[in-house]
Amino acid sequence: MKIFIPSILTILWMVCAACSPTSGAAVGEVPLPSDPKDQLTELSGRMLAYLPQMPLDSLAIPRTTEPDGTLKGSNSKSWTSGFFPGILWQLYHFSQDKQLQQAAQAWSAFVEKEKWDKGTHDLGFKIYCSFGQAWKATQDAHARDVFVRAARTLSTRYNPTVGAIRSWDHHEHLWKYPVIIDNMMNLEMLFEATKVTGDSSFYHIARQHALTTLHNHFRADNSSYHVVDYDTITGAAVQKNTHQGYSDESAWSRGQAWGLYGYTVAYRYTGEAVFLEQAQKIATFIFTHPNLPTDFIPYWDFNAPRIPNELRDVSAAAVAASGLLELRHYTPKNATQYTEWAQRILASLATDRYQCHTAPFFLQHSVGSIPGEFEVDTPIIYADYYYVEALLRSLED
Ligand code: GLY
Repeated sequence: MKIFIPSILTILWMVCAACSPTSGAAVGEVPLPSDPKDQLTELSGRMLAYLPQMPLDSLAIPRTTEPDGTLKGSNSKSWTSGFFPGILWQLYHFSQDKQLQQAAQAWSAFVEKEKWDKGTHDLGFKIYCSFGQAWKATQDAHARDVFVRAARTLSTRYNPTVGAIRSWDHHEHLWKYPVIIDNMMNLEMLFEATKVTGDSSFYHIARQHALTTLHNHFRADNSSYHVVDYDTITGAAVQKNTHQGYSDESAWSRGQAWGLYGYTVAYRYTGEAVFLEQAQKIATFIFTHPNLPTDFIPYWDFNAPRIPNELRDVSAAAVAASGLLELRHYTPKNATQYTEWAQRILASLATDRYQCHTAPFFLQHSVGSIPGEFEVDTPIIYADYYYVEALLRSLED
């Protein structure tokens, strides 16, 4: 079993996290959420103020910050390239501000060419979080065509013997056909591509991928493995590991959130009870876990060895909140509970502890990869994307 051994630097981060005076805040310390509409207005205003400081640069699409606090961007190939345009589209959708729309168009244009890239499973993140949001906000035919093209490209990574889309082409010495729980997040683009084209091939791939993942990724307690490796001759799952979690048998927090969100989406498009049940089981795992802090911002891994002296992952909280705020619509009996859980996250994220004021970020204290020692305890753009989405979803009845 692979176990992550922290470096001196990581131990220092963990000690700092433990020293934080607000670590493990009691329930009563989390203020009631202010009106999400007010928050979205405030975030739109903050973004408008940031835009003049953000020269358009296809090689510097916002991703995170450097240790000195300066912006760290990426080119369009990064799996995170769709999130900044996607935030702009969402804030435009909310505010109808033309400057936000122009910025969203300009930053999305940098990402468009990724629709051809057959070498990655992250096309949903790159293309659907940008052009899918453009489609939702404007019903623009070009935006639709871009994500349909990306869905065709992503479909080439599907292996019918395995019944899943291949995630990574890297780490060939470790895995032959790795599928990661994160890949559940790429299915929405496929389902939507069938909806807008009538071509059911995308739907069948997405549905089968969700079924295969359901069969192989989950443990008896409904937590999930991060990576499952498949034999492409027999289709059998041959190895179950982690890449970003604490250990192969641990529950990496963002992975649990990807699963919750991903199965909720699979239910949205298929109406199949197994997907709804899986989303609910994951929600129960996350939100009744004894290691979940009372402010509902999880540690980076539910089994991280030094809890409560471990870093939180705000991105996992934001993804889970957004997932819950959709899931509540499908399960009247749990709707109140899911809304309360999501609201507790949003209330926590609105506090000074988690708010960030470094352009163009809204939240701090996310974790990219502790084993990989990158983006540890920083603002990360995808946390902001799902935070904005959760606030928008909390406006719905
Ligand atoms: N999909 C990559 C991550 O969640 O870090």
